[in-house]
Amino acid sequence: MKFFIDTANLDQIREAQDLGVLDGVTTNPSLMAKEGITGRNNILKHYIAICNIVDGDVSAEVIATDFEGMVKEGEELAELHEQIVVKVPMIKEGVKAIKYFTDHGIRTNCTLVFSAGQALLAAKAGATYVSPFIGRLDDISTDGLELIADIRLIYDNYGFDTQILAASVRHTMHVINCAKIGADVMTGPLSSIEGLLKHPLTDSGLKQFLEDYKKGN
Ligand code: E4P
Repeated sequence: MKFFIDTANLDQIREAQDLGVLDGVTTNPSLMAKEGITGRNNILKHYIAICNIVDGDVSAEVIATDFEGMVKEGEELAELHEQIVVKVPMIKEGVKAIKYFTDHGIRTNCTLVFSAGQALLAAKAGATYVSPFIGRLDDISTDGLELIADIRLIYDNYGFDTQILAASVRHTMHVINCAKIGADVMTGPLSSIEGLLKHPLTDSGLKQFLEDYKKGN
């Protein structure tokens, strides 16, 4: 499973990259705003800065909601850097734009996916990635992981190439369960990746090893 970090914070991206297990980055307009990145030029520059830190794919989201606007923005984003994947919302115009980008060799991430039907449409349009938001489903008492399992089944039934990018991951159990189900990618905060390191028996075991070493050295 690929690990993406879901942030526009350059320090956190560097930290995840330094760990050596980072495969890409996802951003969205809210994450950019959180970092105070405003204005078209600054936003574009920030995407390039992210691409220069990581080796893998970087999702950059379009703001337009009409077909022509999405195509114009998406083409501009894709030209910025070869690592850019154009993030397009799951709306009618978005599906048309994904199909256009697919036909023109531009990679896409279909975002804001909350149902198996939406994921099926994204795959039919040729999306590179589909992003089901599992945390936001959990927030409204709907099982986000069940959606990942449904999409896995549907994509495997028909051999769709679209990669399942489990998004809105909030914690380590989301990561582990997505891996068990067979999501291709997960994107979450740095804490969801670093949390995988933690086990009290690792900490107590290491403490004991070091104490025993000190006794004889
Ligand atoms: C995915 O690409 C989104 O940026 C993200 O995962 C949304 O997560 P949130 O629900 O924690 O905002």
